[in-house]
Amino acid sequence: MKRIVILGATGSIGTQTLDVARRLPERLRIVGLSARHNEELLRRQAHEFDVPPAGLECGEEADLVRLARLDGADAVVVAVAGAVGIRATLAALEAGKDVALATKEVLVAAGELVMAAARTNGVRVLPIDSEHSAVFQCVQGSPADSVEKVWLTASGGPFREWGRDRMAAAMPADALNHPTWPAMGRKITIDSATLMNKGLETIEARWLFDLPMERIGIVIHPQSVIHSLVVFHDGSVLAQLGLPDMRLPIEYALLHPERVDAGLPRLDIARLGTPLTFDPPDEARFPCLALARRAAQSGGTMPAVLNAANEAAVGLFLEEKITFPAIPEWIERAMDAHAPQPRPTLTQILNADAWARRQVTQDF
Ligand SMILES: NC(=O)c1ccc[n+]([C@@H]2O[C@H](COP(=O)([O-])OP(=O)(O)OC[C@H]3O[C@@H](n4cnc5c(N)ncnc54)[C@H](OP(=O)(O)O)[C@@H]3O)[C@@H](O)[C@H]2O)c1
Repeated sequence: MKRIVILGATGSIGTQTLDVARRLPERLRIVGLSARHNEELLRRQAHEFDVPPAGLECGEEADLVRLARLDGADAVVVAVAGAVGIRATLAALEAGKDVALATKEVLVAAGELVMAAARTNGVRVLPIDSEHSAVFQCVQGSPADSVEKVWLTASGGPFREWGRDRMAAAMPADALNHPTWPAMGRKITIDSATLMNKGLETIEARWLFDLPMERIGIVIHPQSVIHSLVVFHDGSVLAQLGLPDMRLPIEYALLHPERVDAGLPRLDIARLGTPLTFDPPDEARFPCLALARRAAQSGGTMPAVLNAANEAAVGLFLEEKITFPAIPEWIERAMDAHAPQPRPTLTQILNADAWARRQVTQDF
Protein backbone atom coordinates (compact mmCIF):
# COMPACT_ATOMS: atom_id res chain seq x y z
CA MET A 1 0.00 0.00 0.00
CA LYS A 2 1.43 3.36 -1.04
CA ARG A 3 0.37 6.47 0.87
CA ILE A 4 -0.03 9.49 -1.39
CA VAL A 5 -0.34 13.26 -0.97
CA ILE A 6 -1.80 15.18 -3.94
CA LEU A 7 -0.92 18.86 -4.33
CA GLY A 8 -3.52 20.32 -6.70
CA ALA A 9 -6.13 17.63 -5.97
CA THR A 10 -9.04 19.56 -7.49
CA GLY A 11 -7.43 20.08 -10.91
CA SER A 12 -7.33 17.94 -14.04
CA ILE A 13 -4.35 15.81 -12.95
CA GLY A 14 -5.43 15.82 -9.29
CA THR A 15 -8.91 14.46 -10.02
CA GLN A 16 -7.53 11.87 -12.46
CA THR A 17 -5.02 10.76 -9.80
CA LEU A 18 -7.94 10.26 -7.42
CA ASP A 19 -9.69 8.20 -10.08
CA VAL A 20 -6.63 5.93 -10.30
CA ALA A 21 -6.68 5.60 -6.49
CA ARG A 22 -10.43 4.86 -6.61
CA ARG A 23 -9.70 2.00 -9.04
CA LEU A 24 -6.80 0.60 -7.00
CA PRO A 25 -7.91 0.87 -3.35
CA GLU A 26 -5.73 -2.05 -2.30
CA ARG A 27 -2.60 -0.34 -3.70
CA LEU A 28 -3.01 3.40 -3.15
CA ARG A 29 -4.16 5.28 -0.07
CA ILE A 30 -4.72 9.04 -0.12
CA VAL A 31 -3.38 10.77 3.02
CA GLY A 32 -3.18 14.43 1.91
CA LEU A 33 -4.96 16.78 -0.51
CA SER A 34 -4.62 20.46 -1.40
CA ALA A 35 -6.64 23.00 -3.39
CA ARG A 36 -6.54 26.76 -3.82
CA HIS A 37 -10.14 27.89 -4.50
CA ASN A 38 -12.30 24.81 -4.83
CA GLU A 39 -12.97 24.13 -1.15
CA GLU A 40 -16.24 22.36 -1.81
CA LEU A 41 -14.71 19.73 -4.10
CA LEU A 42 -11.78 19.30 -1.70
CA ARG A 43 -14.21 18.60 1.13
CA ARG A 44 -16.02 15.97 -0.94
CA GLN A 45 -12.72 14.34 -1.91
CA ALA A 46 -11.58 14.27 1.73
CA HIS A 47 -14.85 12.61 2.71
CA GLU A 48 -14.68 9.96 -0.05
CA PHE A 49 -11.03 9.06 0.62
CA ASP A 50 -11.27 9.44 4.39
CA VAL A 51 -8.49 12.04 4.63
CA PRO A 52 -8.25 13.61 8.12
CA PRO A 53 -8.18 17.43 8.53
CA ALA A 54 -4.42 17.29 9.21
CA GLY A 55 -4.00 16.07 5.61
CA LEU A 56 -5.83 19.01 4.05
CA GLU A 57 -4.65 22.44 2.89
CA CYS A 58 -6.92 24.90 1.13
CA GLY A 59 -6.87 28.56 0.13
CA GLU A 60 -4.61 31.18 -1.39
CA GLU A 61 -2.20 30.69 1.54
CA ALA A 62 -2.38 26.86 1.48
CA ASP A 63 0.78 25.50 3.11
CA LEU A 64 1.95 23.16 0.35
CA VAL A 65 5.34 22.70 2.01
CA ARG A 66 3.76 21.33 5.21
CA LEU A 67 1.67 18.88 3.19
CA ALA A 68 4.67 17.88 1.05
CA ARG A 69 6.46 16.79 4.25
CA LEU A 70 3.43 15.04 5.78
CA ASP A 71 4.44 12.25 8.16
CA GLY A 72 3.45 8.82 6.91
CA ALA A 73 3.25 9.76 3.21
CA ASP A 74 5.43 7.74 0.80
CA ALA A 75 5.00 9.87 -2.32
CA VAL A 76 3.79 13.33 -3.29
CA VAL A 77 1.95 14.04 -6.54
CA VAL A 78 2.82 17.60 -7.58
CA ALA A 79 -0.02 18.77 -9.83
CA VAL A 80 -0.43 22.47 -9.05
CA ALA A 81 -0.40 24.84 -12.02
CA GLY A 82 3.03 26.47 -12.33
CA ALA A 83 6.20 27.43 -10.50
CA VAL A 84 4.23 27.75 -7.24
CA GLY A 85 5.12 24.05 -6.83
CA ILE A 86 8.91 24.57 -6.56
CA ARG A 87 9.27 24.84 -2.76
CA ALA A 88 6.88 21.96 -2.10
CA THR A 89 8.68 19.69 -4.57
CA LEU A 90 12.01 20.38 -2.90
CA ALA A 91 10.45 19.90 0.56
CA ALA A 92 9.01 16.50 -0.41
CA LEU A 93 12.35 15.29 -1.80
CA GLU A 94 14.24 16.60 1.25
CA ALA A 95 11.76 14.75 3.50
CA GLY A 96 12.69 11.51 1.69
CA LYS A 97 9.55 11.15 -0.40
CA ASP A 98 9.32 10.23 -4.07
CA VAL A 99 7.73 12.93 -6.22
CA ALA A 100 5.35 12.05 -9.06
CA LEU A 101 5.67 15.25 -11.03
CA ALA A 102 3.04 16.70 -13.33
CA THR A 103 4.06 20.32 -12.80
CA LYS A 104 6.74 20.66 -15.48
CA GLU A 105 7.26 24.33 -14.59
CA VAL A 106 9.09 23.15 -11.44
CA LEU A 107 11.81 21.42 -13.49
CA VAL A 108 11.95 24.24 -16.04
CA ALA A 109 12.66 26.86 -13.37
CA ALA A 110 14.63 24.78 -10.84
CA GLY A 111 15.65 21.54 -12.60
CA GLU A 112 19.22 21.47 -11.34
CA LEU A 113 18.20 21.98 -7.68
CA VAL A 114 15.35 19.49 -7.87
CA MET A 115 17.38 16.69 -9.47
CA ALA A 116 20.23 17.32 -6.99
CA ALA A 117 17.77 17.12 -4.07
CA ALA A 118 16.47 13.78 -5.38
CA ARG A 119 20.02 12.38 -5.71
CA THR A 120 21.14 13.64 -2.28
CA ASN A 121 18.11 12.16 -0.53
CA GLY A 122 18.03 8.88 -2.45
CA VAL A 123 14.50 9.44 -3.79
CA ARG A 124 13.02 9.73 -7.27
CA VAL A 125 11.30 12.25 -9.53
CA LEU A 126 8.84 10.18 -11.57
CA PRO A 127 7.29 11.83 -14.61
CA ILE A 128 3.53 12.15 -15.01
CA ASP A 129 3.71 14.23 -18.19
CA SER A 130 2.68 11.71 -20.88
CA GLU A 131 5.69 12.37 -23.15
CA HIS A 132 8.17 11.94 -20.32
CA SER A 133 6.35 8.89 -19.03
CA ALA A 134 6.66 7.46 -22.55
CA VAL A 135 10.41 8.10 -22.60
CA PHE A 136 10.75 6.73 -19.06
CA GLN A 137 8.90 3.56 -20.08
CA CYS A 138 11.00 3.15 -23.25
CA VAL A 139 14.35 3.39 -21.42
CA GLN A 140 13.51 0.77 -18.78
CA GLY A 141 16.16 -1.94 -18.85
CA SER A 142 18.62 0.04 -21.00
CA PRO A 143 21.83 1.61 -19.67
CA ALA A 144 21.52 5.40 -19.18
CA ASP A 145 24.26 6.09 -21.73
CA SER A 146 22.54 4.07 -24.50
CA VAL A 147 20.17 6.89 -25.54
CA GLU A 148 21.12 8.79 -28.69
CA LYS A 149 18.06 11.00 -29.03
CA VAL A 150 14.59 11.52 -27.63
CA TRP A 151 11.63 12.64 -29.78
CA LEU A 152 8.81 14.32 -27.88
CA THR A 153 5.54 14.19 -29.79
CA ALA A 154 3.17 17.17 -29.96
CA SER A 155 -0.44 17.21 -31.13
CA GLY A 156 0.23 20.63 -32.66
CA GLY A 157 -2.63 22.15 -30.67
CA PRO A 158 -5.78 23.84 -31.96
CA PHE A 159 -3.85 26.26 -34.23
CA ARG A 160 -1.75 23.65 -36.03
CA GLU A 161 -3.26 24.60 -39.38
CA TRP A 162 -4.08 28.25 -38.67
CA GLY A 163 -2.28 31.03 -40.57
CA ARG A 164 -0.66 33.98 -38.80
CA ASP A 165 -3.59 36.39 -39.44
CA ARG A 166 -6.14 34.01 -38.03
CA MET A 167 -3.93 33.30 -35.00
CA ALA A 168 -3.55 37.05 -34.40
CA ALA A 169 -7.30 37.28 -33.85
CA ALA A 170 -7.60 34.11 -31.73
CA MET A 171 -9.63 34.43 -28.54
CA PRO A 172 -9.14 32.38 -25.35
CA ALA A 173 -12.11 30.17 -26.28
CA ASP A 174 -10.35 29.21 -29.57
CA ALA A 175 -7.10 28.39 -27.79
CA LEU A 176 -8.89 26.44 -25.03
CA ASN A 177 -10.32 24.03 -27.61
CA HIS A 178 -7.64 21.29 -27.53
CA PRO A 179 -7.99 18.75 -30.36
CA THR A 180 -6.99 15.48 -28.65
CA TRP A 181 -6.32 15.67 -24.88
CA PRO A 182 -9.54 16.07 -22.88
CA ALA A 183 -10.18 18.57 -20.05
CA MET A 184 -6.73 19.85 -19.19
CA GLY A 185 -6.27 22.92 -16.99
CA ARG A 186 -6.50 26.32 -18.69
CA LYS A 187 -2.82 27.24 -18.45
CA ILE A 188 -1.46 24.04 -20.05
CA THR A 189 -4.16 24.25 -22.75
CA ILE A 190 -2.97 27.71 -23.79
CA ASP A 191 0.64 26.43 -23.66
CA SER A 192 -0.43 23.67 -26.06
CA ALA A 193 -1.79 26.29 -28.46
CA THR A 194 1.44 28.39 -28.43
CA LEU A 195 3.56 25.18 -28.36
CA MET A 196 5.29 26.61 -25.26
CA ASN A 197 4.14 23.38 -23.63
CA LYS A 198 6.56 21.51 -25.90
CA GLY A 199 9.29 24.08 -25.24
CA LEU A 200 8.84 23.59 -21.48
CA GLU A 201 8.83 19.83 -22.00
CA THR A 202 12.21 19.85 -23.77
CA ILE A 203 13.71 21.55 -20.70
CA GLU A 204 11.85 19.12 -18.42
CA ALA A 205 13.30 16.18 -20.44
CA ARG A 206 16.77 17.69 -20.27
CA TRP A 207 16.71 17.38 -16.47
CA LEU A 208 14.76 14.15 -16.09
CA PHE A 209 16.91 12.19 -18.53
CA ASP A 210 20.17 14.14 -18.22
CA LEU A 211 20.37 14.87 -21.96
CA PRO A 212 21.72 17.95 -23.76
CA MET A 213 19.03 20.00 -25.53
CA GLU A 214 20.33 19.14 -29.01
CA ARG A 215 19.47 15.48 -28.39
CA ILE A 216 15.82 16.27 -27.63
CA GLY A 217 13.67 16.73 -30.73
CA ILE A 218 10.03 17.70 -31.25
CA VAL A 219 7.77 16.13 -33.83
CA ILE A 220 4.17 17.04 -34.63
CA HIS A 221 1.96 13.96 -34.39
CA PRO A 222 -1.66 15.17 -34.47
CA GLN A 223 -3.20 11.77 -33.68
CA SER A 224 -1.63 11.68 -30.15
CA VAL A 225 -1.27 7.89 -30.31
CA ILE A 226 2.53 7.75 -29.89
CA HIS A 227 3.43 9.63 -26.74
CA SER A 228 7.18 9.86 -27.46
CA LEU A 229 10.08 7.91 -28.95
CA VAL A 230 13.64 7.04 -27.95
CA VAL A 231 16.46 6.41 -30.44
CA PHE A 232 19.22 4.21 -29.03
CA HIS A 233 22.89 4.11 -30.08
CA ASP A 234 22.35 0.93 -32.10
CA GLY A 235 19.74 2.75 -34.24
CA SER A 236 16.75 1.03 -32.65
CA VAL A 237 13.73 3.29 -31.98
CA LEU A 238 11.25 2.48 -29.21
CA ALA A 239 7.90 4.24 -28.86
CA GLN A 240 5.14 4.13 -26.27
CA LEU A 241 1.56 4.14 -27.53
CA GLY A 242 -1.73 4.61 -25.75
CA LEU A 243 -5.02 6.46 -25.67
CA PRO A 244 -4.79 10.14 -24.74
CA ASP A 245 -5.67 9.37 -21.11
CA MET A 246 -3.50 10.82 -18.32
CA ARG A 247 -4.57 8.11 -15.89
CA LEU A 248 -2.11 5.70 -17.51
CA PRO A 249 1.04 7.81 -16.96
CA ILE A 250 -0.26 8.74 -13.49
CA GLU A 251 -0.64 5.05 -12.59
CA TYR A 252 2.81 4.24 -13.96
CA ALA A 253 4.42 7.05 -11.94
CA LEU A 254 2.74 5.81 -8.76
CA LEU A 255 3.31 2.06 -9.18
CA HIS A 256 6.52 1.88 -11.24
CA PRO A 257 7.95 -0.64 -12.07
CA GLU A 258 4.74 -2.64 -11.60
CA ARG A 259 1.95 -2.70 -14.17
CA VAL A 260 -1.48 -3.31 -12.73
CA ASP A 261 -4.89 -3.49 -14.44
CA ALA A 262 -6.85 -0.48 -13.25
CA GLY A 263 -9.58 -1.13 -15.81
CA LEU A 264 -8.54 1.74 -18.07
CA PRO A 265 -9.77 1.71 -21.70
CA ARG A 266 -7.51 0.02 -24.26
CA LEU A 267 -6.04 1.35 -27.50
CA ASP A 268 -7.41 -0.85 -30.29
CA ILE A 269 -4.53 -0.65 -32.74
CA ALA A 270 -6.36 -2.62 -35.47
CA ARG A 271 -9.24 -0.14 -35.44
CA LEU A 272 -7.37 3.16 -35.31
CA GLY A 273 -8.75 4.02 -38.73
CA THR A 274 -6.24 6.83 -39.23
CA PRO A 275 -2.67 7.00 -40.50
CA LEU A 276 -0.05 8.11 -37.98
CA THR A 277 1.78 11.19 -39.27
CA PHE A 278 4.95 12.99 -38.13
CA ASP A 279 6.08 16.48 -39.20
CA PRO A 280 8.60 19.03 -37.96
CA PRO A 281 7.11 21.97 -36.03
CA ASP A 282 6.76 25.36 -37.77
CA GLU A 283 9.00 27.53 -35.58
CA ALA A 284 8.10 30.71 -37.49
CA ARG A 285 4.41 30.44 -36.52
CA PHE A 286 5.24 29.11 -33.03
CA PRO A 287 8.13 31.27 -31.73
CA CYS A 288 7.82 29.88 -28.18
CA LEU A 289 9.86 26.84 -29.25
CA ALA A 290 12.93 28.95 -30.08
CA LEU A 291 12.46 31.01 -26.90
CA ALA A 292 12.52 27.85 -24.77
CA ARG A 293 15.66 26.61 -26.52
CA ARG A 294 17.33 29.99 -26.06
CA ALA A 295 16.43 29.99 -22.34
CA ALA A 296 17.90 26.52 -21.88
CA GLN A 297 21.08 27.50 -23.72
CA SER A 298 21.47 30.66 -21.58
CA GLY A 299 20.89 28.53 -18.50
CA GLY A 300 21.05 29.79 -14.91
CA THR A 301 17.98 31.87 -14.05
CA MET A 302 16.88 32.33 -17.69
CA PRO A 303 14.53 29.30 -17.81
CA ALA A 304 12.83 30.60 -14.64
CA VAL A 305 12.32 33.93 -16.42
CA LEU A 306 10.98 32.20 -19.53
CA ASN A 307 8.54 30.22 -17.42
CA ALA A 308 7.35 33.05 -15.18
CA ALA A 309 6.94 35.48 -18.09
CA ASN A 310 4.94 32.81 -19.89
CA GLU A 311 2.70 32.19 -16.85
CA ALA A 312 2.06 35.93 -16.57
CA ALA A 313 1.45 36.44 -20.31
CA VAL A 314 -0.90 33.44 -20.49
CA GLY A 315 -2.83 34.93 -17.55
CA LEU A 316 -3.15 38.25 -19.40
CA PHE A 317 -4.29 36.50 -22.59
CA LEU A 318 -6.95 34.56 -20.64
CA GLU A 319 -8.15 37.89 -19.22
CA GLU A 320 -8.30 39.21 -22.81
CA LYS A 321 -5.76 41.95 -22.01
CA ILE A 322 -3.23 40.88 -24.66
CA THR A 323 -3.50 39.09 -28.03
CA PHE A 324 -2.35 35.55 -28.72
CA PRO A 325 0.82 36.60 -30.66
CA ALA A 326 1.70 39.00 -27.82
CA ILE A 327 2.38 36.02 -25.50
CA PRO A 328 5.82 35.21 -27.05
CA GLU A 329 6.52 38.94 -27.50
CA TRP A 330 6.18 39.58 -23.77
CA ILE A 331 8.30 36.55 -22.93
CA GLU A 332 11.04 37.67 -25.31
CA ARG A 333 11.00 41.20 -23.85
CA ALA A 334 11.49 39.82 -20.33
CA MET A 335 14.30 37.51 -21.50
CA ASP A 336 16.04 40.35 -23.38
CA ALA A 337 16.04 42.43 -20.20
CA HIS A 338 17.43 39.65 -17.98
CA ALA A 339 21.08 38.91 -17.26
CA PRO A 340 20.99 35.27 -16.12
CA GLN A 341 22.75 34.24 -12.91
CA PRO A 342 24.63 30.95 -13.34
CA ARG A 343 24.00 27.99 -10.98
CA PRO A 344 21.31 29.89 -9.08
CA THR A 345 20.19 29.26 -5.52
CA LEU A 346 16.51 28.76 -4.73
CA THR A 347 16.25 32.40 -3.63
CA GLN A 348 17.78 33.63 -6.89
CA ILE A 349 15.35 31.48 -8.88
CA LEU A 350 12.34 32.74 -6.93
CA ASN A 351 13.56 36.35 -7.29
CA ALA A 352 14.01 35.91 -11.06
CA ASP A 353 10.52 34.40 -11.24
CA ALA A 354 8.95 37.32 -9.37
CA TRP A 355 10.94 39.88 -11.42
CA ALA A 356 9.79 38.34 -14.73
CA ARG A 357 6.13 38.36 -13.65
CA ARG A 358 6.43 42.06 -12.79
CA GLN A 359 8.08 42.80 -16.16
CA VAL A 360 5.03 41.39 -17.93
CA THR A 361 2.19 42.55 -15.66
CA GLN A 362 3.32 45.98 -14.42
CA ASP A 363 1.66 47.92 -17.25
CA PHE A 364 -1.73 46.22 -16.96
N1 LIG B 1 -4.01 18.28 -17.36
C1 LIG B 1 -3.19 17.52 -18.03
O1 LIG B 1 -3.63 16.68 -18.83
C2 LIG B 1 -1.69 17.64 -17.84
C3 LIG B 1 -0.84 16.82 -18.58
C4 LIG B 1 0.54 16.92 -18.37
C5 LIG B 1 1.04 17.82 -17.45
N2 LIG B 1 0.20 18.63 -16.75
C6 LIG B 1 0.76 19.59 -15.80
O2 LIG B 1 0.18 19.36 -14.52
C7 LIG B 1 0.07 20.59 -13.80
C8 LIG B 1 -1.38 20.76 -13.38
O3 LIG B 1 -2.18 20.85 -14.55
P1 LIG B 1 -3.76 20.72 -14.50
O4 LIG B 1 -4.19 20.66 -15.93
O5 LIG B 1 -4.15 19.63 -13.58
O6 LIG B 1 -4.14 22.14 -13.88
P2 LIG B 1 -5.52 22.61 -13.23
O7 LIG B 1 -6.64 21.76 -13.73
O8 LIG B 1 -5.59 24.08 -13.44
O9 LIG B 1 -5.35 22.29 -11.67
C9 LIG B 1 -4.42 22.97 -10.87
C10 LIG B 1 -4.57 22.54 -9.43
O10 LIG B 1 -3.65 23.29 -8.65
C11 LIG B 1 -4.35 24.12 -7.73
N3 LIG B 1 -3.68 25.42 -7.76
C12 LIG B 1 -3.63 26.27 -8.79
N4 LIG B 1 -2.89 27.36 -8.46
C13 LIG B 1 -2.45 27.17 -7.20
C14 LIG B 1 -1.69 27.94 -6.30
N5 LIG B 1 -1.22 29.16 -6.65
N6 LIG B 1 -1.44 27.45 -5.08
C15 LIG B 1 -1.92 26.24 -4.72
N7 LIG B 1 -2.67 25.46 -5.52
C16 LIG B 1 -2.95 25.92 -6.74
C17 LIG B 1 -5.78 24.18 -8.22
O11 LIG B 1 -6.68 24.42 -7.14
P3 LIG B 1 -8.20 24.98 -7.40
O12 LIG B 1 -8.90 23.93 -8.22
O13 LIG B 1 -8.76 25.08 -6.04
O14 LIG B 1 -8.03 26.27 -8.12
C18 LIG B 1 -5.93 22.78 -8.80
O15 LIG B 1 -6.14 21.84 -7.78
C19 LIG B 1 0.55 21.69 -14.77
O16 LIG B 1 1.88 22.01 -14.51
C20 LIG B 1 0.45 21.04 -16.15
O17 LIG B 1 1.38 21.56 -17.06
C21 LIG B 1 -1.15 18.56 -16.93
